[in-house]
Amino acid sequence: MAFVTFAILFFLFTVISSFFLFKSAAESGRINLPLPPGTLGWPYIGETFQLYSQNPSVFFTSKVKKYGSIFKTHILGCRCVMVSSPAAAKLVLVTKSHLFKPTFPASKERMIGKQAIFFHQGDYHFKLRRLVLRAFTPESIKHMVLDIESIAVDALKSWENRLINTFQEMKIFTFNVALLSILGKDEVVNREDLKRCYYILEKGYNSMPINLPGTLFHKSMKARKELAQILAKILSGRREMSKDQHNDLLASFMEDKEGLTDEQIADNMIGVIFAARDTTASVLTWIIKYLAENPTVLQSVTEEQEAIKTLSWADTKKMPITSRVIQETLRVASILSFTFREAVQDVEFEGYLIPKGWKVMPLFRNIHHSADNFPDPEKFDPSRFQVAPKANTFMPFGSGIHSCPGNELAKLEILVLLHHLTTKYRWSVVGPQTEIQYAPFALPQNGLPIELSLK
Ligand code: HEM
Repeated sequence: MAFVTFAILFFLFTVISSFFLFKSAAESGRINLPLPPGTLGWPYIGETFQLYSQNPSVFFTSKVKKYGSIFKTHILGCRCVMVSSPAAAKLVLVTKSHLFKPTFPASKERMIGKQAIFFHQGDYHFKLRRLVLRAFTPESIKHMVLDIESIAVDALKSWENRLINTFQEMKIFTFNVALLSILGKDEVVNREDLKRCYYILEKGYNSMPINLPGTLFHKSMKARKELAQILAKILSGRREMSKDQHNDLLASFMEDKEGLTDEQIADNMIGVIFAARDTTASVLTWIIKYLAENPTVLQSVTEEQEAIKTLSWADTKKMPITSRVIQETLRVASILSFTFREAVQDVEFEGYLIPKGWKVMPLFRNIHHSADNFPDPEKFDPSRFQVAPKANTFMPFGSGIHSCPGNELAKLEILVLLHHLTTKYRWSVVGPQTEIQYAPFALPQNGLPIELSLK
């Protein structure tokens, strides 16, 4: 009986949902073209289970094999078009980027703050991007080498002769570098409180947005409020100081002639921590794994680093072997497997219709793992980067108007840490390393436990 009731309800649900699907397709069908191939799965649930019950690469790869480089699907209640050709990624992210706006879950917007750079297009985005880029140009970050070095040396010392969770420790390192770049090295008073609140906040990033006492979301929102108060205190302290005392991100925000509100500044400081910390920590974790698994590569990196006596900014620009290891890690690990956009109007692409309101996902991981772009793609082989990749086939930092403004800083902090790690330490991975976790960035199993000791 229960089954019959379920079947009837399900049938009704299917009919009603199909009606709405048909209606919106008809409404948006001003361009008279077919939708991309693929299946939308079950009503509402779509193909969410197929995607999340296995390694997402398996889902993407099997779809690409079956339907080609553009296909439709239905994930977490959203109808999506996934694209995995370099040309399609370029169209969505660069040439027609005005037709595809960034889109995030509402809970993420509330936690980071709705004025943060990632959520915007147009004039406000352009203004923020100029301020953020200004703080992260090579010219602006070259003075940070010594301070990043001191953070790296302290981190490595604290790992000596311990079994550590590489990702968790790398998160502490990248958090400290992010705070240095945002607030400068003198901001020490509020540092621990900022970290405490941010750690509570991040626990709620992927929670259900139910703001009731006791829920994860509620605790996160409380921590978010406290973060805003701490940042407001730092801001008012800065206003009392002379203007040219700082050259960090906060200074860049505060120098803007048209001015940003305190709320806009706070949202963007939290946004940059969010963008900077786990991404760079995941990449570092993968590098440690790949170096441990490839002793010849490790040997070449170590020799390159040993030739440098006192690390300077100029040295970081002359590390071809280590730089290729970073590039190859960014490719193989593809920590951001894809990104999300939403079509702001009906768009025609390669004879298909991408309807207004549908999500569009460029699949970075598939592009980086296609044998057309990178022969023997599963092999970790840094030497392949001796030759520049073909246009639009390598985009670990995205592409176009939302591409990563922090990429120079990310590379710098990775190089500095690798310099001290490879010249002074040896390490071994503990436990099996066959699985990849997606949380949401691709990560080695259990955050890669390692034991590290002085050489
Ligand atoms: C290796 C580490 C990193 C990787 C792989 C990475 C990757 C990316 C990617 C792929 C995007 C574009 C996303 C999209 O188009 O939807 C992005 C955007 C962004 N990243 Fe990074 N990132 C890294 C480190 C950093 C760091 C260190 C910072 C800050 C210091 C940073 C700040 C940002 C910001 C603010 C955006 C948004 C830009 C905009 O919307 O205009 N990232 N990042």
